[in-house]
Amino acid sequence: MFKEDILLGKTAYISGGTSGINLGIALTLARHGANIAIIGRDLEKAERAADTIRSAAPTVKVLCFSADVRDYDAIEDTMKQTSEQLGQLDIVIAGAAGNFFAPAVSISPKGFKTVVDIDLMGTFHVFRAGFDYCKKTTASFIAITAPQAVNATPLQAHVCAAKAGVNALLKTLAMEWGPSGIRVNGIAPGLTGDTEGLKRLFATDPDGGQKMIDALPIRRLGSVDDIGAAAIYLSSPLGAYVNGTVLDVDGGYQIGDASLDCLSPTR
Ligand code: COA
Repeated sequence: MFKEDILLGKTAYISGGTSGINLGIALTLARHGANIAIIGRDLEKAERAADTIRSAAPTVKVLCFSADVRDYDAIEDTMKQTSEQLGQLDIVIAGAAGNFFAPAVSISPKGFKTVVDIDLMGTFHVFRAGFDYCKKTTASFIAITAPQAVNATPLQAHVCAAKAGVNALLKTLAMEWGPSGIRVNGIAPGLTGDTEGLKRLFATDPDGGQKMIDALPIRRLGSVDDIGAAAIYLSSPLGAYVNGTVLDVDGGYQIGDASLDCLSPTR
């Protein structure tokens, strides 16, 4: 498909890279040669994730830090340390996110603000600090956004609002920073297996999520490797002319419900 070492010598900074989709992205980028810095709130969890990456890709350098994306100074400090130890950043991924399922009437102003602070402010913090520490002319910035950014979704008022802001932010930055050689894009994962988000979503469904899978045009959950492959595309020369776009990696989830019996492959 593409060269194994397509990211050899590159430096990737990944907020939220200590678990789930973002750890999957970190593993994929490391397997293709990138040195990695992952950031999470829990240092022990970050250290365990860093060891996982080192085992999967023994030749790359891996750093991990404890920092909250809501704290700009802390994020800026981790970027500074990363660029001092691994070189200027080539790839900056704003992946950290917060979510819970609740009807709007059950969300307090603080609960709403918490998610906006993590998802939207956190993305701005990572990208704004990333601008100062990245390699101009060739850097790739990626926001991990969500289908909720463009689809009203019950129990997700706070996430819909925050992720809509993320999409607007990344497109604006793509315009402003394109002339500096920084491409800014997003990835919107759909239903992705082995993630905390999916476990929580399926826990809201009496059917355990099976109908949601049956409604997917592609009839299977996504994997963290599917999202990692999209990150390789956007962050490598393969995606050199892609800027200001959101890549939906969702098996057609956003096209609509494809659960009609007449669409079953057995008919
Ligand atoms: N329903 C309604 N409100 C909720 C809630 C729920 N299920 N879960 C949290 N909140 C509210 C809290 O009640 C609190 O508001 P209040 O003080 O007015 O009651 C506010 O959100 C902040 O909660 P807190 O737990 O103090 O925030 P935190 O910073 O420790 O946690 C969250 C952040 C809320 C996003 C938490 O869900 C979290 O840490 N999640 C783990 C990471 C995650 O979500 N990953 C993404 C998977 S897709």
